[in-house]
Amino acid sequence: MSLRRALVGFVAAGCLFLMIEILISHREVFGEKPVAWSPIIVSVLGLLTSLWAFARWQPLAQKAFQVVCFLLLIVGLAGLYFHNHELFEGEHKETEGHAALGHEKGEGRGEEHHAPPFAPLSLSGMGILGLMATYPKWKQDE
Ligand code: HEM
Repeated sequence: MSLRRALVGFVAAGCLFLMIEILISHREVFGEKPVAWSPIIVSVLGLLTSLWAFARWQPLAQKAFQVVCFLLLIVGLAGLYFHNHELFEGEHKETEGHAALGHEKGEGRGEEHHAPPFAPLSLSGMGILGLMATYPKWKQDE
């Protein structure tokens, strides 16, 4: 088996575990933020196309896998925004204000959303790895 094909198999496993992780982590935000489904959709596509390319190493399967890898890259970057939008939009202080208000009313801080700031980049990493595995112009080592 070639290293390229082995890396595509690795991406398949990565997409599977990311999909499971995000299904669990996003379970409370799926309802209020439909965009939270996008990493699930793209990781399922990543899993399917990587398995296809892994099983049949042919140009059509590789092209489809490359397109999905590009989507993984983009959705990961979008997730970086969604997980940190309070910082980007300067809402941080306002949120703290709400939290303080909730605290006064006896609501615990556990009710807040805590999106891990850089976790979405793991999707982008899978996409980059897949693009590297299928990039046709690598030079051979001497
Ligand atoms: C490994 C990847 C990811 C992990 C582990 C992860 C995990 C989480 C967690 C733990 C939360 C907080 C949930 C809660 O408060 O109940 C969250 C929120 C959220 N995530 Fe992710 N996420 C990932 C990737 C993504 C991606 C790629 C997107 C979008 C393209 C995304 C969109 C969102 C949105 C919209 C929220 C709600 C944020 C808010 O309420 O302010 N996530 N995520």
